Amino acid sequence: MATEIIVETKDLVKVYGDGAQVRALDGVDMQVARGEFVSVMGPSGSGKSTLLNMIGALDRPTSGRVLINGKDLARVRDLDTFRARTVGFVFQLHNLIPTLTAVENIEVPMMGQVGRGKRHRRSRELLALVGMADRMNHLPNQLSGGQRQRVAIARSLANEPALVLADEPTGNLDSHSGEEVIALMHQLNHGLGTTFIVVTHDPAVARNTDRILVMQDGDIVHEHLVGTAFEEDLAAFRRSGLGKAVLNGDEAALARLGANERAALRQLLGGAA
Ligand SMILES: Nc1ncnc2c1ncn2[C@@H]1O[C@H](COP(=O)(O)OP(=O)(O)O)[C@@H](O)[C@H]1O
Ligand SMILES: [Mg+2]
Repeated sequence: MATEIIVETKDLVKVYGDGAQVRALDGVDMQVARGEFVSVMGPSGSGKSTLLNMIGALDRPTSGRVLINGKDLARVRDLDTFRARTVGFVFQLHNLIPTLTAVENIEVPMMGQVGRGKRHRRSRELLALVGMADRMNHLPNQLSGGQRQRVAIARSLANEPALVLADEPTGNLDSHSGEEVIALMHQLNHGLGTTFIVVTHDPAVARNTDRILVMQDGDIVHEHLVGTAFEEDLAAFRRSGLGKAVLNGDEAALARLGANERAALRQLLGGAA
């Protein structure tokens, strides 16, 4: 069976501002297959969130194209409906509504899409799916960080999206909760066939995905296929400009990386000093 492409970008460019302009995306070409679990790494400011926002139709590109299921987003009339039905989002800060319980938060994206009874039933099912059935009526501030993120993941699945975009979903969690959240995403990826694109600074997270995209200066500068080819890809990355800069402590190049990114990439490269 031919691989089905769920996400494709073609020469995607995003420029912010009119005076002092920032070229946040500089001609990104990428493809993601249905059912894939892809991670995106790279220094802060390299364009990871912007890329996710373009793919999720949260913002419009300056030029270039985004195709979801082969459909050009520029040709979609009602982007809100398209987004609600096709894409789920998980952010670093869970963005749960503080005055609504867990179960009510999950119902929010279904409003206007699904009737009340079904909405309620489905949000209970989703909470059970993420292991939170016993916390249905808790408010966000009565939950731990990891539990909140589980609720946020359940919410992202509310409309059975084919694609979930997660922007540093474990960024605010301790490493144990972070692992649990990622394990949950993997379960959903395997069980429901949901496609995941996850931005992360954590090499341990990235190593457990199918493919790692590394961004720098608004473009994808490297791609590792995890699995049999992983070590080969890693060796190639070590020889690349960014890989060498990290390994050799090239201060000029490293000045553009934050301490976290530097540490994360070092660890990914095999713990070299
Ligand atoms: N709304 C915005 N207005 C102006 N500049 C922005 C905006 N969002 C992001 N940028 C700039 O675009 C670049 C890429 O940002 P972003 O995609 O958030 O990077 P990352 O997620 O990799 O840290 C950065 O230089 C950032 O300052
Ligand atoms: Mg970001």
